[in-house]
Amino acid sequence: MSDPLKSSLIDYQKRFGAPASAAAEAPGRVEILGNHTDYNGGLVLAAALDRVTAIVGSRRDDGKIVLVATDLKDEATFDAASFQADKVHSWASYVLGVVDQLRKLGVTIGGFQAVIESNVPVGAGLSSSAALEVSTALLLKQLYPYEIEKMELAKLCQRAENQFVGVSSGLLDQFSSTFGAKNSLVFLDCRSFDHGTVSLGQADVSLVICNSMASHSLTSGHYNERRAECEEAGAHFGKKLLRDVDPTEFERRKGELSENARKRAEHVFGENQRVRDGIGAAKASDLSGLGAAMSGSHESSRTLFENSTLELDFLVATAQSLPGCYGARLTGGGWGGATVNLVRTDAVDEFRTELSVRYKQHTGKTPDIFVCAIGDGAHIASV
Ligand code: GLA
Repeated sequence: MSDPLKSSLIDYQKRFGAPASAAAEAPGRVEILGNHTDYNGGLVLAAALDRVTAIVGSRRDDGKIVLVATDLKDEATFDAASFQADKVHSWASYVLGVVDQLRKLGVTIGGFQAVIESNVPVGAGLSSSAALEVSTALLLKQLYPYEIEKMELAKLCQRAENQFVGVSSGLLDQFSSTFGAKNSLVFLDCRSFDHGTVSLGQADVSLVICNSMASHSLTSGHYNERRAECEEAGAHFGKKLLRDVDPTEFERRKGELSENARKRAEHVFGENQRVRDGIGAAKASDLSGLGAAMSGSHESSRTLFENSTLELDFLVATAQSLPGCYGARLTGGGWGGATVNLVRTDAVDEFRTELSVRYKQHTGKTPDIFVCAIGDGAHIASV
C-alpha cells in the first residue's frame, strides 16, 4: 500500500522547491453500525481505517492558497481573503470549508500552500472527505496556531461539510477520523457526545471491505432528502431529534406519518438498538451477535431507509452465504459505495476470491476487496 505522507512530502519538495514546514494525517472510516443515526442524535459504532489522507504544507505571504491534489493531478489557487466554493475543483471545498470555519471561530488564517495525497478510496463511502477536512484542520493548527478540544475539532469539520460543501451530514465521519483507535471500534452518542472504544478482542476475525465500484456521491441530493424525511418524522412528535421521540408513542401514532417518514424513522430506531446490541456483543466477544446486528442493519437499509443498491444487495447476500462470514452490510451513506463484512480470519482468502468472482459474473464490475486493519485517529506528523 502507498504511503501518502511520505510521497506528499517528496511531491511537495518537487512542486515548491523547498521542504514542507508541517504535515498531518487523518484516516478514512468504516461505519460498523448506526446508519443515518448521527444527525438524528442517535448512536454510532465505527472504526478508523489504516488508510489515510496526508496534507503537507507551509505558509505563504502573498495572500494565496495554493492546493495540489496529486492523486487527481489537479491544482487550484485561491485568494485567501475572498474565496468561494469552486465547482471545477470541488475537492478543494473540503479544505476551504475548514479555513472558513476556523475564521468563524476568530482564528486568523492567511495564505498557505499544500500538497494532498490519500489512499482512502474516493466515492466508496469510506469518508475520504472527512479525512481531508480533519487533516486540513491539523495542518492549519501548525501553520496558524489555535487551540481546540478534539470533539470541537470534529464538529468544526462537520460544519465545514454542512455549510461550505452543502451536505447536511452528521458527526460520524469526522468523529471517527478524529477519535479512531488502533484495533478498536469507536462509538459515539450523537446527542450527549459521550464516546468510547470497544476492542474487537479477537485476532481471528477480520473486517473486510468490498468497494462495489459503483460510486456514491452524497452531494447528489438523496442524503439531504432522507435527512428531511427523518426531521419530518421528529417534528410530527414535536421533537427536533428523532432520538427524543418516545418509542411507545411512536408505535401508537406511527400511522399518522407519511409512509416514507415512518419507514425512515423505523430504520433509525432499529439502528440505535443494533448499535447497543453490537457493542454488547463485541464486549462479550460474541461475533455471531455482532454479525447478526450488521446483517439486520443491511436489511433495514434495503427495505426501510431505501439507501441500498442492487449491487450492494448482491454483495451482502453473497457474502452472507459464504463460509466464515458472520455478517455483512452497506457502510456509510449508501446509494453505492462499499460493504463491510465481519469474516473469520482463516476464511478471508476464500471469501475474497468467491465474492470477487461472483460479483464480476453478476455485474461485469471488478470489486476492490481489502482487509481493513483498524488504525489510529488523526494526528500531526513530523516533516
Ligand atoms: C455519511 C455521512 C455521515 C452518516 C452516514 C450514514 O457517511 O457523512 O454523517 O450520516 O453517511 O450513517
